[in-house]
Amino acid sequence: MRIEGIRAVVTGGASGLGLATVRHLLDRGASVVAVDLATSPEIEALVGPSVSFVQADVTDEAAVHGALDVAEQDGPLRALVHCAGRGGDRTRIVDRDGQPGGLETFAEVVRVNLFGTYNVLRLAAARMSANEPVDGDRGACVLTASVAAFDGQIGQTSYTASKAAVHGITLVAARDLASRQIRVNTIAPGIFDTPMLGRLRSDIREGLAATVPHPKRLGSPDDYAQLAVALLENSYVNGETVRLDGAIRMAPR
Ligand SMILES: NC(=O)c1ccc[n+]([C@@H]2O[C@H](COP(=O)([O-])OP(=O)(O)OC[C@H]3O[C@@H](n4cnc5c(N)ncnc54)[C@H](O)[C@@H]3O)[C@@H](O)[C@H]2O)c1
Repeated sequence: MRIEGIRAVVTGGASGLGLATVRHLLDRGASVVAVDLATSPEIEALVGPSVSFVQADVTDEAAVHGALDVAEQDGPLRALVHCAGRGGDRTRIVDRDGQPGGLETFAEVVRVNLFGTYNVLRLAAARMSANEPVDGDRGACVLTASVAAFDGQIGQTSYTASKAAVHGITLVAARDLASRQIRVNTIAPGIFDTPMLGRLRSDIREGLAATVPHPKRLGSPDDYAQLAVALLENSYVNGETVRLDGAIRMAPR
């Protein structure tokens, strides 16, 4: 898919991986609607003729429709990059006192990360399916999992469940939407230098960077954005989850 001139929606676009993706798509000549729970100074600085911001919760059907309406104001929606998501609840299955972990936070993590993904995917794909195909595609979607989908750490059951499910639906979605000529791929990031990680002490961040085989650094949001754009562009990549992690394999804790 040619990026120049297309309309794209980026969820989680006010921060981190989503924000970098908005910048990359803009640099490549796309018009972008950034969707997030709240705006940020960084996305506000980009808002203009080619970038809009829409405040929306990705689990809210009406709110996502509103964002898609904005994206389709001047033409068809061709691309979705879904980055919105939250961290886990750090809950052990059985706690120190022998008590079972709660269900509520587990359900909330799955609701935001998995239901949110499915909600945005289904609503965006329905819009894309009405497009005229260009170079064989009516649209292309990139979802965001995590290496926790494969090497979940202790205390990550909810986060891993939500991200393994995003990986799991990727091939199904690609098969399901093949007749609509819409491609679906997923990026599984390793450890990225975003506000989600910014809460950690700098020595802990440095320790994490040292665990990456090569390159020995945290992933940068630009690494993610570059791959997201490549997955949109390359018409033969479909139904794939790509680990983007410097070859890291997470230890049990
Ligand atoms: N940073 C990492 O190391 C890392 C690693 C693996 C996977 N990921 C995944 O990458 C994605 C992006 O994370 P990030 O690191 O850029 O974090 P981030 O916190 O910088 O950005 C996530 C954005 O999603 C938004 N968001 C959360 N819930 C939302 C909702 N219900 N509706 C709309 N927006 C919502 C937040 O407001 C935030 O702006 C997430 O899905 C995360 O799980 C991140």
